[in-house]
Amino acid sequence: MSSATIDWTTLGFSYIKTDLRYISHWKDGAWDAGELTGDNRVHISEGSTALHYGQQCFEGLKAYRCRDGSINLFRPDQNAARMQRSCDRLLMPHVSSEQFIDACLQVVRANERFIPPYGSGGALYLRPYLIGVGDNIGVRTAPEFLFSVFCVPVGAYFKGGLTPTNFVVSGYDRAAPNGTGAAKVGGNYAASLLPGQEAKAQHFADCIYLDPETHTKIEEVGSANFFAVRKDGTFVTPKSPSILASITKYSLLHIAQHRLGMPVEEGEVYIERLDEYTEAGACGTAAVITPIGGIQHGEQLHVFYSESEVGPVTRQLYDELCGIQYGDREAPEGWIIKVK
Ligand code: PLP
Ligand code: COI
Repeated sequence: MSSATIDWTTLGFSYIKTDLRYISHWKDGAWDAGELTGDNRVHISEGSTALHYGQQCFEGLKAYRCRDGSINLFRPDQNAARMQRSCDRLLMPHVSSEQFIDACLQVVRANERFIPPYGSGGALYLRPYLIGVGDNIGVRTAPEFLFSVFCVPVGAYFKGGLTPTNFVVSGYDRAAPNGTGAAKVGGNYAASLLPGQEAKAQHFADCIYLDPETHTKIEEVGSANFFAVRKDGTFVTPKSPSILASITKYSLLHIAQHRLGMPVEEGEVYIERLDEYTEAGACGTAAVITPIGGIQHGEQLHVFYSESEVGPVTRQLYDELCGIQYGDREAPEGWIIKVK
């Protein structure tokens, strides 16, 4: 089929209906074989636990068109494993890594004409999700489940791509200390809607959450993890039980240490000590690497490298990460699965 009629140069992060999505149902202890469907609506019971009690989780990963026309999936085994951890937290059945990766491969192949061309900066974003469905009314785990993967061609999540953007510290918490912050579940994102809207109304890209226990340490952005470069050249990223274990963040920790020769640290980033850092950024599948120009905390705007120019370490990390994802630089063992 011919390439979709999309202006690849202006792609943002918006829903576009693609051709086919994968859907599988769980009943009586097992998943069915799963199939591709052209219907982008989901037909579920009005009593579904996903609708009332937030029993659902999701993932996000991308397929990349390479220079030679082949297609890369980036670390889908990590998304499969994280979805299994989210399922454990919300009492939902695992989808095996094999079924998860097979569903992603089927969806990419069936929607190949929607993959942005090499060099456009875009990618095909895959959205796997797993929800509790079936007739139910009490607060209990669902009698049935549905697992689906759909895809959308996307460009930059935060406007401007590699142009630095400012973030604001939120007074809200997105997660509780022993809550569901480490799971990729919809409730965390529902909690982030109002803080995000308030940040955007003040012309910030988004907000940054502090740790919910002491409100002294940076946790993450509502849709991405946080990293910074300390004056001594160390790559630092927050360690906390209430943030999402970002696959991009762990990839950057590896790249910083093994490709750029930097010391790396998962630790505390105190909001009152931002002057210890020369650069900062947000990282994630959707966000890729978004340089943070400055962080507004109360009355003060702390600017890192510059409000208009990306710092040199952030650029190196970006080039290496994207080089691996688009197949221009050698990937560490097991990071890339070839779709074709
Ligand atoms: N943190 C949150 C809250 C997210 O929604 C995401 C996006 O998936 C991330 C971090 C980044 O995770 P990853 O790099 O695995 O996409
Ligand atoms: C992702 O980066 O995959 C995310 O889930 C972030 C956001 C779109 C929720």
